[in-house]
Amino acid sequence: MTAKRCLGRRSRPLCSVLAVRFLALVLWGVLGARALDNGLAKTPIMGWLHWERFMCNVDCQEEPESCISEKLFMQMADLMDSDGWKHVGYEYLCIDDCWMATQRDNDGRLQADPKRFPGGIRRLADYVHSKGLKLGIYADVGNKTCAGFPGSFGYYDIDAQTFADWGVDLLKFDGCYCDSVAHLADGYKRMSLALNRTGRSIVYSCEWPLYMWPFQKPNYTEIREYCNYWRNFADIYDSWQSVKNILDWTSNQKGIIDVAGPGGWNDPDMLVIGNFGLSWDQQITQMALWAIMAAPLLMSNDLRNISPQAKALLQNKDVIAINQDPLGKQGYRLRKEDNIEVWERPLSNLAWAVAMVNLQESGGPRSYSTLVTSLGKGVACNPACLITQLLPVKSKLGFYTWTSVLKTRINPTGTILLLLENASHTHLN
Ligand SMILES: *[C@@H]1O[C@H](CO)[C@@H](O)[C@H](O)[C@H]1NC(C)=O
Ligand SMILES: *[C@@H]1O[C@H](CO)[C@@H](O)[C@H](O)[C@H]1NC(C)=O
Ligand SMILES: *[C@@H]1O[C@H](CO)[C@@H](O)[C@H](O)[C@H]1NC(C)=O
Ligand SMILES: *[C@@H]1O[C@H](CO)[C@@H](O)[C@H](O)[C@H]1NC(C)=O
Repeated sequence: MTAKRCLGRRSRPLCSVLAVRFLALVLWGVLGARALDNGLAKTPIMGWLHWERFMCNVDCQEEPESCISEKLFMQMADLMDSDGWKHVGYEYLCIDDCWMATQRDNDGRLQADPKRFPGGIRRLADYVHSKGLKLGIYADVGNKTCAGFPGSFGYYDIDAQTFADWGVDLLKFDGCYCDSVAHLADGYKRMSLALNRTGRSIVYSCEWPLYMWPFQKPNYTEIREYCNYWRNFADIYDSWQSVKNILDWTSNQKGIIDVAGPGGWNDPDMLVIGNFGLSWDQQITQMALWAIMAAPLLMSNDLRNISPQAKALLQNKDVIAINQDPLGKQGYRLRKEDNIEVWERPLSNLAWAVAMVNLQESGGPRSYSTLVTSLGKGVACNPACLITQLLPVKSKLGFYTWTSVLKTRINPTGTILLLLENASHTHLN
């Protein structure tokens, strides 16, 4: 408790880094032990998910290039391999709703739509694996998927085994058509146990809290015991309003921050960078904040047709390194003043990531000055730190001491992403 009081914003140099370190260890000792024990998602998973960009397009006659079919996934697999995506960490190629045939087979097993997936999921999984990638699939805890295909209620064991037999590596489990909170919680737990019993390593993505919120506050400690990551908030759309809503919701939910950690993450939904709805500055904001939030990085875009600028942003290794930081602590909004938000995230090696977002939607770039002591619990720049701007463009800002003022300029709806590194060692040299 003493250590905790030291962490207040007005902390003194006396409050040693050791106390912070100790507290972090204690927290991780407790939380770390309770993550779903499948050895997966030690850092937020990275990949591609079809939903936001391709939705439930099943019309392969009219739109052969964008319907949900094995061809779409094979093309994305080729590009994830050849265009550098896999190299920077995007590994899971994920199918969302609308892959199924409308009926189960005679043995009660789910089957892929035979016209759109003529080779079946097993063959697709083999293909994806041959590219050094992993395959994700989608099902639903209730009686139907959200788009009306067969649900898994009553079939949890059969479906888990089917996915394992096919060589699937991740399951996104939706929560539509579920008639009670009891069925919801029970179903999410049963599927988690069923996946475990298959003996195959399968990342388990839940929407349990999202469907729980209208009825009662989700028990995140419990959810973390069963799921590798979980959606809390409505689907993302290709718009700034949608990104803003997600950030706004997250910044007001202090309770979800400490639950995240290796093995279990909050999922603010897909990256829509490279599509139609976000300006360049807004795409920077999404990338920076998804890194701060330790979010799964699941792109939903068309890798066959993406601008070099969006590709460079999504493949930015410095930003990905923040997202994937091994300490695995989720960042949070530190303050909001006059439409400027400051978010920060503790990183390994006593470093911090800081994002400054300008939410004002009129005027030009705005100046913003910060006392560096106000960042990183007062220790990030004590006695000095090296600050590097990572976004919108990389530039070394140099050394700052405890009493320095950091001056930035931020575009409307844009973000400045900074890395603060402990400079003592370098400083002494
Ligand atoms: C199943 O769970 C046990 C313990 O809960 C764990 O040791 C094991 O690795 C899990 N297996 C898989 C395939 O996730
Ligand atoms: C599925 O439908 C059956 C029959 O209507 C019903 O008894 C059951 O509660 C439903 N399950 C869910 C999870 O909604
Ligand atoms: C939440 O779940 C945990 C772990 O299952 C349990 O120990 C705790 O009592 C639950 N909390 C509440 C408020 O139900
Ligand atoms: C920075 O690192 C030095 C060792 O190189 C250590 O003595 C000092 O306490 C650290 N400062 C902070 C604020 O982490």
